Amino acid sequence: MKSPTKIHYFDYNATHPPNFSILERAWDSYKNEFFNPSGASRFSLGNQGKIEVARKYFSNLSGYPMRGIVFSSTGTEANHLLIAALKLKFPDTTAMYTSPFEHASFYSALNMHGIKPVLLKTDKTGLVSVDELRKLMEYLPLPVGIIYAGNETGVIQPMEEIGALAREFSVPFVTDAMQSFGKMIMNFESVDGFSCSGHKIGAGPGCGLTGIRENLETKDWGFMRGGNQENGHRAGTENLPSILSFQFATQSKLENLQTKVDRNLNFRKKIEQELKNLGCEIVAENSPRLSHTIFCLIPIPELDFFIMGLEERGVIISTGSSCKSRARNASTALTAMGYSSEDALRAVRISFGDGTEEEDIEALITGFKELIKQL
Ligand SMILES: Cc1ncc(COP(=O)(O)O)c(C=O)c1O
Repeated sequence: MKSPTKIHYFDYNATHPPNFSILERAWDSYKNEFFNPSGASRFSLGNQGKIEVARKYFSNLSGYPMRGIVFSSTGTEANHLLIAALKLKFPDTTAMYTSPFEHASFYSALNMHGIKPVLLKTDKTGLVSVDELRKLMEYLPLPVGIIYAGNETGVIQPMEEIGALAREFSVPFVTDAMQSFGKMIMNFESVDGFSCSGHKIGAGPGCGLTGIRENLETKDWGFMRGGNQENGHRAGTENLPSILSFQFATQSKLENLQTKVDRNLNFRKKIEQELKNLGCEIVAENSPRLSHTIFCLIPIPELDFFIMGLEERGVIISTGSSCKSRARNASTALTAMGYSSEDALRAVRISFGDGTEEEDIEALITGFKELIKQL
């Protein structure tokens, strides 16, 4: 394969390109003051202070108590902490109403805590059925855990309605907000707990965050044991530069957020129109969706050649399927929405953001045009 000279990156949902000035700011702080935040010296106390400032920032942003904000290593761990909190508070929980759109780490956390996922119905809108949830609640109220916005489809779930239903039936409602956090104005009031991850917004790897409200709190809530960091909720020396980076990246993302969303929406509209002209089907086209995410079915079955062809042109996108041992699996999100496995194997995800320019969009569209004609 030829090496492209320039990369046109369209996989922001996998990881956001790093915001270098933010990383430098965080690492400068660490280089100058590398002291273990748990130490007894005033230098250590100073670093603990920086973590508390970050915690206060996220607490103010979400409206959650400071002690309910816990930093960990990544989104996967943040999901595990979230479910650990719920299970500790409600130890009799053996099942949860959830969606077919969750990330594997969410299902895995449920499994680890002996909680069976009861998947809500959906359809080609990619939205979970709130009517079905109501019926299920009337029959048997259970905790609810629904991804805020799908990592593949980009569909934003009806958080307010689900939250109201959860309150009506006095059950907790938690969300994996990995893809929505910092990318849209979020409604934190509707949920009792959420998880997010720094690298999804340009903070670089190394920091996940779990937020829980008072109603999920227990004294012993925690995941890792063996140290009293993070108020006893997550043992292990804190990844100070990543925590700082996450705070700075969030602040930067939320600055002029609506302008960024509008810019993305313009790009999305333009790309989708071109893709539809080429015979692509936009998944959940008319549903509320993240402004920077397009999930579509290409009109040809040669997905691998297509992805490789784009890569040769420097255009990086992702598939809507998980690749295990080189065997491609159909996206379970799509099959849950009523697509056949065959159709689901033609899915590609295009995700972009603040660093995307017109020339990237042109390269993407040209690549699609040439390859769909050629293959
Ligand atoms: C919705 C969702 N949840 C959880 C994760 C896991 O996050 P991390 O990669 O930070 O562990 C991801 C990452 O792709 C995701 O998209």
